[in-house]
Amino acid sequence: MKKLLKGKMILLLMMALMLLLSACNSSGTGGQTESGASSGDSKSSDKLVIGFSQVGAESEWRTANTKSMQDAIKAAGHELKFSDAQQKQENQIKAIRSFIAQKVDAIVFSPVVETGFETVLQEAKDAGIPVFLADRSVDIEDDSLWVTFLGSDFVEEGRKAANWLVEETKDEEGDVNIVELQGTVGSAPAIDRKEGFEEVIKDHPNLKIIKSQTGDFTRAKGKEVMEAFLKSDGDNIDVLYAHNDDMAIGAIQAIEEYGLKPGEDIKIIGVDAVKGAFEAMAAGKMNVTVECNPLFGPQMVDLIEAHLAGEEIEKRVAVEESMYTMDQAEELLPTREY
Ligand code: AHR
Repeated sequence: MKKLLKGKMILLLMMALMLLLSACNSSGTGGQTESGASSGDSKSSDKLVIGFSQVGAESEWRTANTKSMQDAIKAAGHELKFSDAQQKQENQIKAIRSFIAQKVDAIVFSPVVETGFETVLQEAKDAGIPVFLADRSVDIEDDSLWVTFLGSDFVEEGRKAANWLVEETKDEEGDVNIVELQGTVGSAPAIDRKEGFEEVIKDHPNLKIIKSQTGDFTRAKGKEVMEAFLKSDGDNIDVLYAHNDDMAIGAIQAIEEYGLKPGEDIKIIGVDAVKGAFEAMAAGKMNVTVECNPLFGPQMVDLIEAHLAGEEIEKRVAVEESMYTMDQAEELLPTREY
């Protein structure tokens, strides 16, 4: 009897031991798969959480850019945490801090202005979260604070605008008076588009900027500032150089209300190549727009995935761009994506 009891107990003990072992085993296998997935597999095959701090919704360009990013992140199966800064730097700093607190996998950031982001970018770096600059860059010495900058060459855009004007006015004898609508003060496109334009016209002393003021990249402000230009210099203005199409479109309205013909009495140069500019060109109210392509969402997602998969990526990735004139507008308008 005793022997029988002893045997039963051994059997029970062995069964308990087997149960314990199999439990350990199954949790051990799960753990290995998990850790295997995060170390062995590339990060790019995982669902990523991407924080995107956008400048705002100030222009047609910006709306197209936001959509391109949202669509690309969704199509890749990642999660987007989106924040609209409403053109305010303090909102961007808050958004980046909140992305850090939420431990996102990557931060995409389109800076409103060029300076003043060192501290928050250092915080992201300390937290081990890679930052990708989209569209606009920053003026910061330490370039280890971001992985790459994907965006347009704004200086070149300014040069293209000026080169068009040089060609267009080559037979003019007297001065050509230009008014300039600048983008947001302190922003990379405003600084660079001015620089590129001035670099070219400085060799043509008859091309003169007689007035230059910010229109903050919006239609409403572009119209308001153009009204002020017309009030003070009315019949003396030959050319408007607007740092984006939205301001140019606002200004076109002001010019018409003043009783002049935009595109004829005053030549209109814009930047972005948005649909609104093509419509204005097709109507003969705008002369040229330099392309600034906002549809780089898929390219940005590729860069994030490549970086997180451990691939080496370029510090500066450019977006390819062109330039369009009035005579191409009607034909190209139906195919414009933004
Ligand atoms: O940074 C790109 C510029 O920002 C676009 O040219 C302008 O339209 C936008 O608001």
